[in-house]
Amino acid sequence: MAYELKLHDNMPLKIKLRGRKMTNTPTPLIAGNWKMNGLAADSLSTIGELIDKAAKAGSMRCDILICPPAVLLRDMASAANSSAVNIGGQDCHMNEKGAHTGDISAEMIADSGATYCIVGHSERRTDHGETDAVVQQKASAVHRAGLIAIICVGEILEERESGTTLGVISKQLSGSIPSGCNSENTVIAYEPVWAIGTGKTSTADDVRQVHAHIRQEISGKIDGSDATRLLYGGSVKGSNADELMAVANVDGALVGGASLKSEDFWPIVNSCI
Ligand code: PGA
Repeated sequence: MAYELKLHDNMPLKIKLRGRKMTNTPTPLIAGNWKMNGLAADSLSTIGELIDKAAKAGSMRCDILICPPAVLLRDMASAANSSAVNIGGQDCHMNEKGAHTGDISAEMIADSGATYCIVGHSERRTDHGETDAVVQQKASAVHRAGLIAIICVGEILEERESGTTLGVISKQLSGSIPSGCNSENTVIAYEPVWAIGTGKTSTADDVRQVHAHIRQEISGKIDGSDATRLLYGGSVKGSNADELMAVANVDGALVGGASLKSEDFWPIVNSCI
């Protein structure tokens, strides 16, 4: 019986209890972040392939999410309607509407048919100077619109090398998590910045340490912290997904480059099936 097994991190997800009570173990989430990639025709054909693969797979052991560029949200959401594939935004403004040229609100993302929105991705933090306080307001906006927020945190290489990773993550979590978070409306994604798009990934030991720390830190900040999904991101691909998804407290992945083609993304989904 599962409870009597000696647990170790290479154990398949199916029987891994992650050190939590079985009832608290959430459905994993495999999320693709397409960033600024994809024109309509190719994107629609990729989403079609994913929908077909999910339909053929039958009952899924994980939730699947694709976050396309904002201009494709409505078409993608309508293509994925009633399928196992969820659609999400990559960012939103904190206000509901107003004079913010070029921005889109969480309500607009919800109106497109999407159900999730990423906030605080390191590329937003770096390229657009987004602070924890801004990320917190955006996460609140995502909840206001009835969407699920994926709040991203992660250290840069200098912080990793100077041994300050856990402190950096604590600070980002305290500053970025708004009130009103629960395990249903919030997902946390840990993405070491130096691992994003570089082909480098954290070791399973490092991921285990950071995810255990995040699990501890969100207690008291997120209602149902034990059941809140914690994703790992940063050069996740088919060849490393099994190992990363088997790490304690890892409840899925946020995938960039390897989510752009269904044949690269599906093996990552399969690491949970
Ligand atoms: P990557 O991107 O998988 O290409 O490293 C991950 C992300 O930025 O979410």
